Amino acid sequence: MSDTAQPLTLVVLISGRGSNLKAILDAIKDGELPVVISAVISNRADATGLDYARQENIDTLALDADDYPDKESYDRALQGLIDCFEPGLVVLAGFMRILTPALVQHYHHKMINIHPSLLPEFRGLHTHQRALEAGVREHGASVHFVSEELDSGPAILRVRVPVLPADTAEQLAARVLQQEHRLYIQAIRWLAEGRIRWQNEQLLFDGQPLKNPIDINAEN
Ligand code: GRF
Repeated sequence: MSDTAQPLTLVVLISGRGSNLKAILDAIKDGELPVVISAVISNRADATGLDYARQENIDTLALDADDYPDKESYDRALQGLIDCFEPGLVVLAGFMRILTPALVQHYHHKMINIHPSLLPEFRGLHTHQRALEAGVREHGASVHFVSEELDSGPAILRVRVPVLPADTAEQLAARVLQQEHRLYIQAIRWLAEGRIRWQNEQLLFDGQPLKNPIDINAEN
């Protein structure tokens, strides 16, 4: 993805809190992530995460679904907005909308998402509560390319987080979120460095086919 000397350009899409966005911004500031964020776009003007981008003088835009008659026209407008910034990678960081197939296809191999579960387990919402109810001993988060089916595109990287006997969904969510930040930065770094890349329809890691996601363990 970054065969040239130019840093990878990101457009980040958020809907709310923006803690993953903040982690990415902090990593860029610390010189740990060779990317440039050219815009942060939200479907909610009141998304608190937009403030993190404003503090860094990054363009922020809000696109309200109420201003569009249907999902298709909303996604066409969103695509037009994203494309103005010519990103090499579109990063979904808590963007709480299901995308239309046309939008997903437009960013084929160029859009990633972070999901709070060890995919393919627990796609969709309320992953932490569902993990507790299922009695799993390990939970976590995954970074994956976006495909038309929700939370189902090829996973790149996962972090495993032990479930503790007394965990509530909130406690588990907080521990997973802490690891998400590391995970997303690692995945974006590998993409920016070209260590993870697509060759035709084959996902490669360091030049070798990546058939299964790379798993890392939680760190304190
Ligand atoms: C994260 O848990 C992420 O995995 C999910 O949405 C949440 C976003 O959190 N897709 P934040 O807005 O980055 O704090």
